[in-house]
Amino acid sequence: MIGIFDSGSGGLTVFRALRDTFPDQRFVYYGDHGNAPYGNRDADTIYEFTVSSLERLFELGCSLIVVACNTAAATGLRRLQQTWLPTRYPDKRVIGVIVPMVEAMTGVPWSAESDSALQNHGKKTVAVFATRYTVESRVFVEEAAKRAPNVNLVQQACPSLVRLIEANAPVQDLRRAVRRYVTLLMRRLGEERLDGVLLGCTHYPLIEDLFAEAIPNDVEIFSQPKVTASSLAGYLARHPEFACGHEPGATFCTSTNPEYITKLAWRFLGDTNMQFNALP
Ligand code: DGL
Repeated sequence: MIGIFDSGSGGLTVFRALRDTFPDQRFVYYGDHGNAPYGNRDADTIYEFTVSSLERLFELGCSLIVVACNTAAATGLRRLQQTWLPTRYPDKRVIGVIVPMVEAMTGVPWSAESDSALQNHGKKTVAVFATRYTVESRVFVEEAAKRAPNVNLVQQACPSLVRLIEANAPVQDLRRAVRRYVTLLMRRLGEERLDGVLLGCTHYPLIEDLFAEAIPNDVEIFSQPKVTASSLAGYLARHPEFACGHEPGATFCTSTNPEYITKLAWRFLGDTNMQFNALP
């Protein structure tokens, strides 16, 4: 089974892309809604919540987990992969959403180390909208600088968005908040042209239409769910042992009231067959 983890409902955007790309796989989704949002918390707390959420998914039988949460990945995915995982679960794997996104945005894959790969990029300016923690971690800026130093990443923290989404806020409140964050970023850009937007939080594709309304028409929005699906396809091709032999389908678990979370998921994904179960 392949696990998908997010602090709340945002990872469902990644789940949807994975289910569409891998109809033969079995997925288990775990949203730590009881502790969301993570993005305004400190690094140690986010790391602790992430470890215990991953443990729950491993206990359910997952052999591979996609951390569909930028904030959790920004806090210490490398630390998890290099220290915690080999000691506690040496046969299991955890992969994230940040590096695939940066690779897609810069057009430079992880394996490209030659100077020519890095220099082949014209100058462009890309906006990153993400949680406060992800922005402060500078993970997107650092990963992009390794691959394409000519890409200028301008970050904007959006500390209220995950809370509003998880609270099922009216669309006009979400629209107002998105406009405010986009305006703040555009003011900082001044005359500089914006070439792309990266939604660096898996909750934000749920309101991608509101971002599209607020940014200039010709600016491309990079889709993290699609990029994650194609990165997982590459991973499973290289490591077919993590593709599952179980019945295809999906199970959804949450650390809080499942009825409320189920209704929220219906609103955003429009799939009324989806039912969350409590997994405190
Ligand atoms: N979906 C998470 C992310 O990608 C949201 C984090 C939060 O809970 O604040 O960053």
